[in-house]
Amino acid sequence: MNIVLLGHPGSGKGTQAKLLQKKYGIAHISTGEMFRSIAKEHTELGRKVKSLIESGAFVPDDVTVRVVRERLAKPDCTKGFILDGFPRTEQQADELQNIAPIDHVIHIHVEDETVLKRLSARRNCARCGTVYGLDRVPKQSGTCDTCREPLAMRADDDPKKIKRRIEIYHAETKPLIDYYKRKRLYATVNGDQDIGKVFRDICGVLEGKKVTK
Ligand code: AP5
Ligand code: MG
Repeated sequence: MNIVLLGHPGSGKGTQAKLLQKKYGIAHISTGEMFRSIAKEHTELGRKVKSLIESGAFVPDDVTVRVVRERLAKPDCTKGFILDGFPRTEQQADELQNIAPIDHVIHIHVEDETVLKRLSARRNCARCGTVYGLDRVPKQSGTCDTCREPLAMRADDDPKKIKRRIEIYHAETKPLIDYYKRKRLYATVNGDQDIGKVFRDICGVLEGKKVTK
């Protein structure tokens, strides 16, 4: 089962991909997480990627496609994978066709205002990776419930950068909705419901219980 999760920044792609990975035992591939890791490297590429992602801009298509191609060649992808945040441009979608077949493209639909509020509230623990936000408030503000570590904000989660990411989403990624509708791979779920309900709807699509649009 090869799945693409499409959606606004903050639509819940990462949250849902983790749940899908657990349920179906397939690889979760987040290009955002891969780029945040590359950004920590003291290399020319690391510095370039850091500056792009922290400003809310896209990493160039050729770099992104190369990273994904190499990742999809790893053995854990043979059973299937969930692409979280790739493709984001038509060029990336075209290139993906030559890398691997896709069975489902699921769009987690949310409005701009919802993600602005969600991402402004998102904080994470650098030690255990737990993500806090409107849906999960830490017992003590700014501190991880488990590790007692101070929580951090992603560098691209300040309101100006969130707005920029949303604008780029509309310009570059939203056209992929029609792209995948034409290929009859597209389905959409309402991302503005509680996390469990969104997950049930996605599983419904994957298990053929819901008519795809
Ligand atoms: P990436 O890390 O992929 O960021 P993004 O697409 O902006 O999405 P987010 O990770 O912010 O949100 P999400 O949809 O995963 O939502 P989440 O589950 O966390 O990419 C970062 C950067 O890397 C890009 O800006 C770009 O620079 C670069 N990049 C990555 N891929 C690229 C590509 N293909 N091409 C070029 N450049 C690329 O949820 C968000 C919050 O909401 C959390 O707090 C969560 O707990 C909460 N939440 C989730 N679901 C719900 C719900 N149903 N109700 C209430 N709260 C919820
Ligand atoms: Mg994410």
